[in-house]
Amino acid sequence: MTPQRSEHVAVYPGSFDPLTLGHDDIIRRGLRIVDRLIVAVAETSTQDKRALFTIEERVQVIASVYANEAALEVVSFSGLLVDFARSRDARLIIRGLRAVSDFEYEFQMALMNRSLWPELDVIFMAPDNRYTFLSASLVREVARLGGDVSEYVPPAVLERMVERFGPPARGDA
Ligand code: PNS
Repeated sequence: MTPQRSEHVAVYPGSFDPLTLGHDDIIRRGLRIVDRLIVAVAETSTQDKRALFTIEERVQVIASVYANEAALEVVSFSGLLVDFARSRDARLIIRGLRAVSDFEYEFQMALMNRSLWPELDVIFMAPDNRYTFLSASLVREVARLGGDVSEYVPPAVLERMVERFGPPARGDA
């Protein structure tokens, strides 16, 4: 007899300002292990950051990158992540871990979230080696200062960054 199991729905939360190829790598890995993945753009981040794109812009660009992924949904949420996850009956949270230095903050958040909602589980996923140095904050800074970020973000995100900052300054100019 085929065992019945309920659908595995996971939330991949973050600021995604902007979505990087590191996020993309985790999203594609996540899609291989769950039935449905909700990419959730947080209106309130634990770490205070100077925003580059509005929440609506981030949701829109991420939705355009994964327009062909039927198992993926992109939404924004305000308030607590656990309240959002519970409202969607998603008992799994996915977070990427680039290095040991990420671990302390991630572990603390995971345990706080599970203390708030004991039914929750958190999966940490390692991105491909090529992306372990990547962070959205570094991509923002490089782009703001005229650097070329084309190797770090999907083409749709790059387009928005060029609209915002103009093409990258050339080193040989
Ligand atoms: O991409 P980030 O900025 O590292 O993501 C952090 C995020 C958005 C996952 C975290 O700040 C969050 O969960 N914010 C929602 C508010 C919340 O639930 N805070 C308590 C976390 S224990």
